Formats: sequence, structure tokens, C-alpha cells
Amino acid sequence: MPYIISVVSQKGGVGKSTIARMIAVEFALMDGCSWKGLLADLDPSQATAFRWSQWREQNASKPDIVARPYASPEQVLADAGNYNIVIVDGAPNASRDTLRVAQAADVVIIPTGTSRDDLIPTIQLANELEKNGISRRIIVFGLNRVGTSELENSEARNYLEQTGYRVASGELRDMVTYRRASDSGRAVTETWLGELNNRARVFFQSLMKELCDANQEQAGEL
Ligand SMILES: Nc1ncnc2c1ncn2[C@@H]1O[C@H](COP(=O)(O)OP(=O)(O)OP(=O)(O)O)[C@@H](O)[C@H]1O
Ligand SMILES: [Mg+2]
Repeated sequence: MPYIISVVSQKGGVGKSTIARMIAVEFALMDGCSWKGLLADLDPSQATAFRWSQWREQNASKPDIVARPYASPEQVLADAGNYNIVIVDGAPNASRDTLRVAQAADVVIIPTGTSRDDLIPTIQLANELEKNGISRRIIVFGLNRVGTSELENSEARNYLEQTGYRVASGELRDMVTYRRASDSGRAVTETWLGELNNRARVFFQSLMKELCDANQEQAGEL
């Protein structure tokens, strides 16, 4: 079975597609192992990730990313066996699908903004997933679109951390450059500004650390 990372949220627009695309690109770039990766777009009406992969192809950006739209989690799972790693870009407010892709995942990433409007549904979703049998160990919060107020950022982080769920230590700042990169089929680690790429990569690595810890803990419990 492939390794499945599901990126989900209750709220729309929190950065699922942005983070899923970054993970797909960074895995494809990893040295020394050729992951056969799939970016599974579970929101065929918007097809954000799929369309992005077409822009990427038009611009001949490397590495190649395989992105496909799927109408249901079952369709993703039927295809998943052909890949080593599957990154699922979830649809917003699709609670049944969200639960299914979370149940099938090795790790579940929930992106969130820093406002209470974003944080509360984030925590509610994690609680709902846990109530439905998903181990809290595999749920990871990732702060996205953070602004320049250190106070706001640290309050948001503290708010998430007091829940006991995993919180990636890095974060993704809200930057026009990240949007512009996405618009041309690039990931947030592939912008024209090295400093922003490095910051995004630190965020990616902090997510990876939580993924590794989550899986080690899970394995230890089996
Ligand atoms: N760190 C960021 N800086 C600037 N813009 C961002 C950042 N993250 C996301 N965005 C922008 O915010 C919008 C929503 O992001 P994205 O599409 O990744 O969210 P989503 O959770 O996948 O949305 P949906 O729920 O509609 O699928 C997009 O226009 C995206 O380019
Ligand atoms: Mg999306």
C-alpha cells in the first residue's frame, strides 16, 4: 500500500491545495529515492490541483507531478496501489469524504489560519475525526497565511498546542509571491525568491518531522 497523506479542512480556502502541491513537489525532488507520487484532487468541481498541474506542464516545470481529479475517496483508493505516495487534496465541507480520506491516511494534515474563525473549525474537525476512530497521533495542524504580528502568531500556536494535537513548528506566511507562484504551476518552495522558498521548505520539513513522529508512535503502539 502507498503512504497516504490527506490534507483536509472543514473551512474552505485555508491552504489545502497549496500545501498538498508543496508536498507533492518536495517528495518528487527528494534525492536518492524515486517516489512514484500522485497528487489526488478530491474537488473535481474546482480541480485546483489538477489545473495547477496543467499550468506546470505548460511551463515545462520540473519535476513532473502527476495530478488527477477524483470524484470520490473510493476512486482515489482504487488507484492508490499504483503509487508509492499519495497526497490527497481534500474538498472543503465534504464531511463524509473528509472522514473517508482521513481513515485511509497514514497522516492527516489540517491547514489553518491564525484567526479564531479558522482555528475553531480546525479543532472541531480534529475532534470529529478522533470521535470517528482516527488516532489523534496522526493528525497534524499546519499554520498557513500567517501575518506579521508575532503576538497573533504565537497566540494561534498556543491555542492549537493546548489541544494536545500535533502542530508543525514551521508556518507559511501570507505572501503575494506564493500566490503568483501557484498561478504559474509552481509550489511555494519554487518561487522566484530564494528566501521565501527556504521559509516554505522549513515549513515542509516541520510537517515531515511530525509525519515521522506520528508514524513512529503509531508503529510503537501496534
Ligand atoms: N501562504 C499563502 N500566501 C498567499 N496566498 C495563499 C497562501 N496559501 C494559500 N494562498 C491562497 O489562498 C487561496 C486559497 O488557498 P488554497 O486554494 O490552497 O486553499 P484550499 O483550502 O485548498 O481552498 P478550497 O477549500 O477552496 O479547496 C488561493 O488563492 C491561494 O493561492
Ligand atoms: Mg483546494
